[in-house]
Amino acid sequence: MDLKEQIEKGKIPRHIAIIMDGNGRWAKSNGKSRIFGHQNGVKAVREVTEGCAELGVEYLTLYAFSTENWSRPKLEINALMELLVQTIRKETKTLNKNDIRLQAIGDLTSLPKRCYRELMEAIDMTKNNSRMTLVLALSYSSKWEIIRAVKQTAQNVLEGSIDINDIDEQSFEQHLCTHNFPDPELLIRTSGETRISNFLLWQIAYAELYFCETLWPDFHKPQLHQAIIDYQKRERRFGKTSEQIIAEQIASK
Ligand code: IPE
Ligand code: IPE
Ligand code: MG
Repeated sequence: MDLKEQIEKGKIPRHIAIIMDGNGRWAKSNGKSRIFGHQNGVKAVREVTEGCAELGVEYLTLYAFSTENWSRPKLEINALMELLVQTIRKETKTLNKNDIRLQAIGDLTSLPKRCYRELMEAIDMTKNNSRMTLVLALSYSSKWEIIRAVKQTAQNVLEGSIDINDIDEQSFEQHLCTHNFPDPELLIRTSGETRISNFLLWQIAYAELYFCETLWPDFHKPQLHQAIIDYQKRERRFGKTSEQIIAEQIASK
């Protein structure tokens, strides 16, 4: 049976987050430059975005460039930023055609001006689309985001708009870049690395983690479907016992 047909329609994750890793190794194994790997990574982005929209995923967050990635060779950073500009420019039309809204999280003002402008334009041009939200994490790191939220919370306490005893998960989350999005139920990382690399540390507190060996440029719809099938087999207990979860499922039927 086709992998897609094995997916249970009623149990699609609302939000999938992906650490797209392995472009460099993919390029190396093909005897090409790292940049060539990133260019082919864009094709996988296109395919996975389409695959998620087809299945009715509501939010797809892609880790495209981390705060730590600024430490890479200048040549690679420049090529990545140029690729970002070109891709956004080229894909905005397709996003509109497919009714997909673009959003971005991260320290966006640290991006080159041209990138920032292009990004803001695409966000604005797609803002009324409602089928799916595609969130790009750019110059993003979770520790940066959490420190920023701590500072804003402290500022609110100083100004008296919140009492220190009223700070809770909900009030804190309002200051995260992701405040308009639900937490991801499924986090995928490609390329065989089994680490989080400073991505959505708060938001993945209860996400299901899926690691696969596929290098990002080779991650296409079948690999996405496989990850969702794997996710659907898991029992999400949120601290409860398996018996409680089964009883709740019976009661809700
Ligand atoms: C992921 O692929 C893309 C970015 C981090 C921008 P890498 O460039 O990290 O590829 P590997 O891990 O070196 O293979
Ligand atoms: C994580 O990949 C960041 C992105 C996918 C954008 P890296 O390749 O930068 O991660 P580490 O440094 O190997 O953990
Ligand atoms: Mg990598």
